Amino acid sequence: MTKMAMVYFDHNATTPVDPMVLEAMLPWLSGQFGNASSRHEYGRAARKAVDEARDRVAAAVGAHATEIVFTGGGSEADNLFIKGAAAFLKPGMIAISPVEHPAVIKSVEQLARRAWRLHRLAVDAKGRIDEADYRQTLSAGPRLISVMLANNETGVLQNVATLADAAQACGAVFHTDGVQALGKIPIDFRSLNACGVNALALSAHKLGGPKGVGALVADKRIEIEPLIAGGGQERGLRSGTENVAAIVGFGVACELAVQHLAERSSRLTALRQRLEEGLSAMGATLFGAGADRVPNTVCFAIAGFDGETLIMHLDRAGYALASGAACSSADSEPSHVLTAMGVPNGLARGAVRVSFGSGNTQEEVDAFLVALRDTTTKLRQLNTTF
Ligand SMILES: Cc1ncc(COP(=O)(O)O)c(C=O)c1O
Repeated sequence: MTKMAMVYFDHNATTPVDPMVLEAMLPWLSGQFGNASSRHEYGRAARKAVDEARDRVAAAVGAHATEIVFTGGGSEADNLFIKGAAAFLKPGMIAISPVEHPAVIKSVEQLARRAWRLHRLAVDAKGRIDEADYRQTLSAGPRLISVMLANNETGVLQNVATLADAAQACGAVFHTDGVQALGKIPIDFRSLNACGVNALALSAHKLGGPKGVGALVADKRIEIEPLIAGGGQERGLRSGTENVAAIVGFGVACELAVQHLAERSSRLTALRQRLEEGLSAMGATLFGAGADRVPNTVCFAIAGFDGETLIMHLDRAGYALASGAACSSADSEPSHVLTAMGVPNGLARGAVRVSFGSGNTQEEVDAFLVALRDTTTKLRQLNTTF
C-alpha cells in the first residue's frame, strides 16, 4: 500500500498521469466510445480525436503526422521497427549499443537466432559509444543499427545524429529508442532523419501520459512488416481497434511536455546538481557523470552497500527509488549497462537510480540525503554491508 507521504523519485520507470491528460482522456472512456473505423458520428468523432493526437505527437518530435504509427508502448515500437525492417532486409550484421533497453536487446537476439549476426558496440566508461569501435564496425557493413537517444539507467545521451550520419554513408538502416528522451530533451525527427535516423520509438507513460501507448516514428522509405496483422489500422502497420482514450492522452502529454521543456529542464538540472553534490560529499560514485545526460537522472553507488538493500530501507523511510536495471528490477544480477561501462560487479550491485519529475522539490532532495546518510549509518551499525 502506498503511503501518503511517499516521495516519488522513480519517473524513469513511470510517471503519474498529468491531471490535464486524464481530463482529456475521460470522455473517450465514457460517452465518446466510438470505434475510429466506424463511419457514423461516434466513429468520426473518435477518428478526429486520433488524428488530432497524431498531429500533437508529430509536432512534439518535429515529424510529419503520416510518419506516426501508434503502438501499445515503447517496447512494441522498438520490436515493430527492428523486426519489421529486418524482414525486408537481406540478413547480415545487426549492431546495437550494449546499453540498450531489453525491448531492443531481446528483439535483436530473436533475429540472431535466425540468420542475423549480432554485434554489440563498445561504450566508454561514461556509457557513450566508442567512436573507434563504431567506425570499425561500420567497415564490416552492418545492415541495421540501433542506438538509444537517452539511457534509462544513467540518463547518458548518445550522439545519435553523428552516429547515424556515418551509418547512412554505409547504407545501414538506423533505429533509435527515444523513450527516455521524449519530454526531457528537444527531439527533432526531421533533422535526425536528414542525418540518417530512420525510426524513433516513443512511449507515453514516461511523460505524464497513460501506460500501454506509444508510437513508432518511421521514415516511409523503409519497408516494415507489421507485428500485428488484421484490420489494417495505422497504415496497415499496427492492426487492432485504436485505444482512443490512451492515444488522446499521449497527444496531450506530448504537447504539455514540449511546452514546458526548457523551464522543467533547468529546474531538474538544479535538483540533480544538489543531489550529486550531497552524494559526492558522502563518497558515492556517480555513473555517467561528466557526460551529457537528461536532466532528471542520477545513478550512483556507495561502495560496500547493496542497491536492493538500500532501496528497501529507503522505501520504508518514504522514498520510491529504483536499483540497478530498474525497468524490471526483479533480478539481482548487476546491470548490463554498468557492466558494459566497465563498472566492477560489486560496485554495480550497489547501483541506485533517482529519477526526478516535475513535482519534486529541493526540500525533498535535502531530506533524501539525510535519509540516505541515516540508512547507511544504520546498516553499518548492523554490519550488513559487504
Ligand atoms: C529506454 C526505454 N525503451 C523502451 C522502454 C519500454 O517502454 P514501454 O514501457 O512503453 O513498453 C523503456 C521503459 O522503461 C525504456 O526506458
